Amino acid sequence: MKKFITTPIYYVNDVPHIGHAYTTIICDTLARFYRLRGDDVFFLTGTDEHGQKIEEAAKARGKSPKEYADEISAKFKALWDEFGISYDHFIRTTDEYHKVTSQNVFIKMLKNGDIYKGEYEGSYCVSCESFFAANQLIDDECCPDCGKKTRLVKEESYFFALSKYQDRLLKWYENDKCVLPKGKKNEVISFVKGGLKDLSITRTSFEWGIKLPKELNEPKHVMYVWLDALVNYLSALGYTRDEERMEYWNNTLHIVGKDILRFHAVYWPAFLMSLDLPLPVSVAAHGWWTRDGVKMSKSLGNVVNPKEVADTYGLEAFRYFLLREVPFGQDGDFSQRALIDRINSELSNDLGNLLSRIVGMSSKYSANIINSNNVKEFYSSELEASKIHIDQALASLEDIAPNRYLEELWKVLNIANATIAKYEPWNLVKNNKFDEANALVALVANLLARVAILLSPAMPQTAQKIADTLEFEINTNSYNELIINSNLINFKANATTPLFAKIEHELMAPAPVAKIDEIKSKDEEIKIDDFKKCVIKVGTILECDNIEGSDKLLKFKIDLGEEKPRQIISGIAKYYEPKSLIGKQVCVLANLKPAKIFKHLSEGMILSAEDGSLTLLGTHASVKNGAIVG
Ligand code: MSP
Repeated sequence: MKKFITTPIYYVNDVPHIGHAYTTIICDTLARFYRLRGDDVFFLTGTDEHGQKIEEAAKARGKSPKEYADEISAKFKALWDEFGISYDHFIRTTDEYHKVTSQNVFIKMLKNGDIYKGEYEGSYCVSCESFFAANQLIDDECCPDCGKKTRLVKEESYFFALSKYQDRLLKWYENDKCVLPKGKKNEVISFVKGGLKDLSITRTSFEWGIKLPKELNEPKHVMYVWLDALVNYLSALGYTRDEERMEYWNNTLHIVGKDILRFHAVYWPAFLMSLDLPLPVSVAAHGWWTRDGVKMSKSLGNVVNPKEVADTYGLEAFRYFLLREVPFGQDGDFSQRALIDRINSELSNDLGNLLSRIVGMSSKYSANIINSNNVKEFYSSELEASKIHIDQALASLEDIAPNRYLEELWKVLNIANATIAKYEPWNLVKNNKFDEANALVALVANLLARVAILLSPAMPQTAQKIADTLEFEINTNSYNELIINSNLINFKANATTPLFAKIEHELMAPAPVAKIDEIKSKDEEIKIDDFKKCVIKVGTILECDNIEGSDKLLKFKIDLGEEKPRQIISGIAKYYEPKSLIGKQVCVLANLKPAKIFKHLSEGMILSAEDGSLTLLGTHASVKNGAIVG
């Protein structure tokens, strides 16, 4: 099957940051997965180089836009190459062939009666390269998307008849997977239902853009940068030129950030309808990253540099963290602590130790030869249980949920680790139960091999190291054999070094916090209904203990007036002696989605005030457990 997967093309006004790395690594993981299962994949990334924003950024640095674009575009390409991103083509919108396709597209839409000339009068956000009507602005002048000041624009312009496509777009949204995740699709639907205005698609007040086709004789006009940018997906496939690669178009997946979903899920399908082309199978939007809970921005100097993280903590660990930390579609937070916790507990313990144990046990019990003949006889229930998680992992990738895919693989590792703990192969050997002991090692080796094959798209080097250690191949054949057919295979275990070293403390300089007041003053305002989504309850602390191996976390049992007390993990160990908290009443965010922190289930969040230290929030007088705060 042919499959086309794309990242957004990145603006060259800024060097690559964690958000760019996130989108690119998700796409890379999916592209590698599709290839693993045997698809013929075309993976596209690149840079978006025209528009007013780039023209102004270049000018500010005393460079020509092209000179400036060359410099930054090369940085993106170099980083993706260093990260081993498996793209098939890197497009630059300043490439000649892209200009030709963009002009051909313009002519086609014009011929189809979808483009007309007029005058645009309204506001424009240069940062978002986006037009807004007066009633959409915040405080009469600021961009509703990024909050920056917009500019008033009055200029001659060509328009695309977007309004004409409103009903067809709404029909398209009925299709299950066209916009993912579902919540985001609903936002798009209400935007379209609110009424679509025709879209200005040429600009005359600056020069850095693709010129209109010569036959129009409009030398003042350049194409609106979003039209030029979206067309990249077609020009890379040779649309209107050499169309051989256009076969990939029939099965297209665009991964984008939530901020640019409107362009991809409203304007883009309308352009495609005008061109009479099939629409993408899915446009999937991910959330945004913050750092240590704070929005990243150049002026705050807290932007996470992906190269620094990868150089410091390892590229594979960084990839794992990005994919695993946040549910796709939701916003996520980068902190060194969270990354270290995942490295130590999930990568070093759950995965790395398992490999070392297999090598150790097989060298002791069976001269490094792992034979799987008796696995089904002794451990069929473990095999069945792990098959369910493997299938779930596959289904999660299908739904573009990389975090769930990794969670499911870790459930398989948990089964492997738990089986060792339960049957204690060293005792089996002591009691002369050699077949059972060897079958256990073989079970665990097979489970680890399955995990490694399915993990290879996310962590290619780690998976390869596991495969080299246990002497099996990672390719479409082994995928079919071990993952699809669930066959068991034999192994030979080789000596190896640990997959991941434990990390004791933060290795990078902390993010600057000096300007915290500046951030707070820019806090987004919310409506009362937003606040009402939070259920905050008062509860009494029944138990509070330290968590072994963590100097930050405490484990609480809290009575919230419910059938049974909640277990909550909280990072306040530095500020409180656990026993001193027993009997105290605290406020708890009670409808927070449960999560595992340091392997312990946490069913809520205890609220505290932060001013450099942390102080728990309580009530002035004792109240009934479960009382609602509001
Ligand atoms: N050039 C346009 C895309 C055109 S695609 C036809 C653009 N470029 S961008 O460089 O500003 O953003 C590229 C991607 O990075 C977007 O998907 C955006 O969501 C993502 N991110 C930018 N900052 C981000 C975070 N802080 N966190 C996660 N992703 C973010 O938009």
